Amino acid sequence: MYQLLKKLSFYLSLIKFSLIHPKSGLDLINEANQVSDDIKHEFKKFEFKPVSFSQALNLIFGKNEEIKDELTKIDDLEKHLKYFFENISGEYPSIEKPYPVDYSIVGESGPFLYRLCKLVKPELIVETGVAYGISSSYILKALDENNKGKLISIDSIFRPWQSKEMIGSAIPKNLRNRWELKIGTSEKILKKTLTTLPSIDIFLHDSLHTYKNMHYEFKTSWPFIKENGFLLSDDISSNNAFSDFYKSIKKEPIIMLQNQNSQSYLGILRK
Ligand SMILES: C[S@@+](CC[C@H](N)C(=O)[O-])C[C@H]1O[C@@H](n2cnc3c(N)ncnc32)[C@H](O)[C@@H]1O
Repeated sequence: MYQLLKKLSFYLSLIKFSLIHPKSGLDLINEANQVSDDIKHEFKKFEFKPVSFSQALNLIFGKNEEIKDELTKIDDLEKHLKYFFENISGEYPSIEKPYPVDYSIVGESGPFLYRLCKLVKPELIVETGVAYGISSSYILKALDENNKGKLISIDSIFRPWQSKEMIGSAIPKNLRNRWELKIGTSEKILKKTLTTLPSIDIFLHDSLHTYKNMHYEFKTSWPFIKENGFLLSDDISSNNAFSDFYKSIKKEPIIMLQNQNSQSYLGILRK
């Protein structure tokens, strides 16, 4: 009974919030519709053979003996992120804790992003979906060491418990000089952002994992990626958007197992 009342009061607060903030209300409805479309639609599971972190890097760059040594350089960043999560207060969802703590990019994906950026030395990266900023932190750590490049991140704030301050709040302050945050849904601002930029080296999707949104982001970003650049996507097994997309452009992906326990996968496409 208590749980039911809690749920009811949560939905009532969403309705009240939407009436006061009609634009956010429309974004909430749009998101709810996309999620419900995905639940109704039965996705035929696509088959793939995932590889490990080091196999993924070997497939892209050939055998690379420096990988282990390089990774000791992220020890301090990982300590900082661990400390951030140990000290984040409040109950999810709330202004103090707008995202669940396990919402961030998981397992090997952070070190993979760091290593990829160390090897590619990108000038420009665009990512969608920041939350506390774990993927952003690994990318920015590599850009800082490269002494080159910029990360543009897109995230939305249309839920009543979200605030601009919490987006990217885990990113160490000394890594923020190569970071620009744009607020808005990817549907509204991704294309507009990409058209104002020179072509990009890497695009990373980690925002709303619905078929419609993922497919839209892949289709929109692909023409703006440089030859030999990368399109990366978190959680590709949520639906068939990634497999439909790579088949449509006739490219073979690399699919990396992010975490043995969570069975989540990072999709990698090279242009
Ligand atoms: C899975 S989290 C991102 C985790 C992050 N990459 C990390 O490693 O910490 C998803 C984020 O996407 C944002 N988001 C959800 N729907 C979105 C949309 N339509 N457009 C842009 N961002 C969205 C959420 O606000 C949330 O911050």
